Amino acid sequence: MHSMQIQNDFSLKKYNTFGIEAKAKQFVAVHSTDELREVLKQHPNDKKFILGGGSNMLLTQDVDALVIHVDLKGKRVVSQDEDFVTVEAQAGENWHGFVLWTIGQNFGGLENMSLIPGNVGTTPIQNIGAYGTEIKDTFVSCDAMEIATQKIHTFTNAECRFGYRESVFKQELKNRYIITSVQFKLTKRNHKINTSYGDIMAELAKQNIDTPQLKDVSNAVIAIRQSKLPDPKELGNSGSFFKNPIISKTDFDQVQAKFPDIKFFPVSETEVKVPAGWLIEQAGFKGMRFGDAGVHKNQALVLVNYGHASGQDILNVSKEIQRTILEKFGIAIEAEVNVI
Ligand code: EPU
Repeated sequence: MHSMQIQNDFSLKKYNTFGIEAKAKQFVAVHSTDELREVLKQHPNDKKFILGGGSNMLLTQDVDALVIHVDLKGKRVVSQDEDFVTVEAQAGENWHGFVLWTIGQNFGGLENMSLIPGNVGTTPIQNIGAYGTEIKDTFVSCDAMEIATQKIHTFTNAECRFGYRESVFKQELKNRYIITSVQFKLTKRNHKINTSYGDIMAELAKQNIDTPQLKDVSNAVIAIRQSKLPDPKELGNSGSFFKNPIISKTDFDQVQAKFPDIKFFPVSETEVKVPAGWLIEQAGFKGMRFGDAGVHKNQALVLVNYGHASGQDILNVSKEIQRTILEKFGIAIEAEVNVI
């Protein structure tokens, strides 16, 4: 068993994909639910901060709390029949590693979400998604430990109340539970290959693939992501910094009258989703750099750290973008990453 050593004034630079220098007042990594329970029991009154892969947060200050890094590992097949398999991964498993493990066994359903940074345990919190798929489409349940009681509760798909980059864990249950493992139901045959997202079709055509297998879809997604999204190992970032705003059809019609080229996706009879990346690019921010903080040159939705930006530097750029988009288009865009 690992020793559970609590460290003081611990640098979080390697634990956030933005690569921001910030310190945790205290830091501990836990490798099992028993260790997690023990830490929670030993520190009932300390302020706690739960850290997974650090791929969806912007640290604008030191973290004045006990940072608990959830490092539970393991993945397994829970049950299966001829058509479907239920798989489980522990919260600390790297998401992309898990996706490749499922594809390697010809289990279908996660391939469109290849190469998303972060760990499995944080995927339900914001219902991660890409290229026409979200985890809610295959998610069965997750186990989570209640911080106050250390009891494990199993949340079903319905109980998670998933929405676009949303779940109960960002709302009523915020900071109350720590997700320890997640189960997904995947296909073993008759895979639902989903190439409806335009970029995937174009990428497969480029490779002359007309009957794509799971691996082909995964490879296409990897190629697209690598061409647009910066690798956090090379350039600090947190993926999409903003959510794509969902606005009323009435508001949209007004904006479209002024900007006929605007891109959009219908969400319902009355609502439309607008790509924030398009708005940001139109406002002239794409590729702009302000000191060490900037807007990525290939995808305007991604803010980047060129080296020594502080969280505050990145936050200031994000606020300037929000202000300009509101002024130019009358649309309010909201951060997707958690600003700490
Ligand atoms: N666009 C621009 N300029 C840009 C970026 C995008 O004009 O700089 C336009 C594109 O031309 C396209 C539309 O916006 O017409 C959509 O672009 P893209 O397919 O790149 O996707 P996105 O809406 O910008 C979302 C997710 C990504 C996910 C992709 C693919 C959100 C907040 N982001 O981005 O997720 O990979 O779709 O499914 O929903 C993430 O959440 O961290 C993330 C990377």
